[in-house]
Amino acid sequence: MYRQRIYSLLLLLLGILFHHKSMAQQQQLSSYQEAHRPAFHFSPSTGWMNDPNGMVYYEGEYHLFYQHYPDDNVWGPMHWGHAVSTDLIHWQHLPIALFPDSLGYIFSGSAVVDWNNTSGFGVNNQPPLIAIFTYHDMVGEKKGLEKIQSQGIAYSNDKGRTWTKYANNPVIPSQGVRDFRDPKVSWDTEHRQWTMTLAVQDHVEFWVSNDLKNWKRTGDFGKDVGGHGGVWECPDLFPLHVGNTQETKWVLIVNINPGSPNGGSGTQYFVGDFDGKTFVLDEKFKANVANKQGVWLDYGRDNYAGVTWSDIPKTDGRRIMIGWMSNWDYANKVPTNPWRSACTLPRTLSLTNTEEGYRLLTKPVKETDLLHIAAVKPYRIANQVLKSNASLEPTLGFVPTLSEVEFSFEKPQKNSLIQLELSNSKGERYLIGYDSEKNQFVSDRTKAGTNAFSPKFASTIHIAPRASKQKTVTLKVFFDVASAELFADNGATVMTDIFFPTENFTKLRLQVKGSAMKIKQLTVTPLQRVLK
Ligand code: FRU
Repeated sequence: MYRQRIYSLLLLLLGILFHHKSMAQQQQLSSYQEAHRPAFHFSPSTGWMNDPNGMVYYEGEYHLFYQHYPDDNVWGPMHWGHAVSTDLIHWQHLPIALFPDSLGYIFSGSAVVDWNNTSGFGVNNQPPLIAIFTYHDMVGEKKGLEKIQSQGIAYSNDKGRTWTKYANNPVIPSQGVRDFRDPKVSWDTEHRQWTMTLAVQDHVEFWVSNDLKNWKRTGDFGKDVGGHGGVWECPDLFPLHVGNTQETKWVLIVNINPGSPNGGSGTQYFVGDFDGKTFVLDEKFKANVANKQGVWLDYGRDNYAGVTWSDIPKTDGRRIMIGWMSNWDYANKVPTNPWRSACTLPRTLSLTNTEEGYRLLTKPVKETDLLHIAAVKPYRIANQVLKSNASLEPTLGFVPTLSEVEFSFEKPQKNSLIQLELSNSKGERYLIGYDSEKNQFVSDRTKAGTNAFSPKFASTIHIAPRASKQKTVTLKVFFDVASAELFADNGATVMTDIFFPTENFTKLRLQVKGSAMKIKQLTVTPLQRVLK
């Protein structure tokens, strides 16, 4: 008897030790020194990641959940991975939040703070966090069934550390349409209800609830307007002030795959009003999206499935978005190991009224300043002329692999292609800039390194029509090891692209093809690796 006890105690101890070892091993699997590992863009330590999910702010923490397959670096049975940050820049990995179960894989969705405990899941007078997600029934899919997607919820009473799935899931059963997913829920203060936007094949549906458990469909939008080159996914709906005025408009984000302007996955949006039941397009915006034309949030190929944070405090007041920095055209094949994919930088959205109608401005969050290195001086020049067909190679005193470039110049009167070029000793190069003849921004990764993994990756130069009419063209570019994010003209035109040089880029050059140009300002600020 006594011996048996000792024996089971030993087994238990061994079990605990083994468990801890395997957890530690798992953490160590990634050195964060691998080729192409982003230095300041969130990426999972190991395994596959796609859409960001359940972004919610609660008690000083920004939560970031994400579509995750922990056992391989290709898409598979979907879990919700989890990380938290106190500043949107430094991320701490946490254990997986949601695992697949008998109802299916856990597809994309959102999370909210249920401040008034409408769900009844709160304990000790603390509001619960509620996650709302899509169940995808893989068994049903394999059988060719139509009823394979439904919506479920889970709650947490410990700041998102552990989650309990609701016993009566699903809260919205399948309605018979295969593509019925990605619930984004928010509390509508005006109409005092929970509103859910759902992507349903070629349109968005609006559902409302008082308790997050019982839902009623109130409207739909979008069958005849906007981009329709693919399936609609991951919507989001939120009000924004127009500029600094008191006027409020509602923005409806709709991700689409394929069908984006430069190919594959992309994000479009609509501006209008929400009456508590459905979304009504603004009259002027209607013209922008007639004939299945889209208005696009980002013209690069690597910003998808982005939606915004819930419950950002009123005192902050920002609408913050983050996207998946990849594209379904090649996401499963990019040359990274033992993980795949990263998120974009978090971005602040604002609304402005232009001659063409309401438009979103997308800017990197101000917290990106935390990436600056106090001890290293940025490179700075101002008011210089760069002659026709000339180039300028700044003496930086640091490598530009991780850097923030701020570059403004007068829009040339004559034709000229103005580009920033990153290159390495292998002759690989990535170029990003502005073509004054076509009045468009260009991002060229056709010779930026490894690209044979997919014919869809680097076959074309990506272009973005310039939205601003200002005389001065302003570029802000964030370079990480494997990505570039361009915020042109204060966020009026945005491009996000990834690339895979076989050795890190070491040189930055400014070049002009065509007529001379006037540099107003060029600042290159080195950035630091914050994710280790
Ligand atoms: C978008 C998406 C979502 C879905 C998830 C599955 O990238 O296809 O519509 O919920 O990914 O991983």
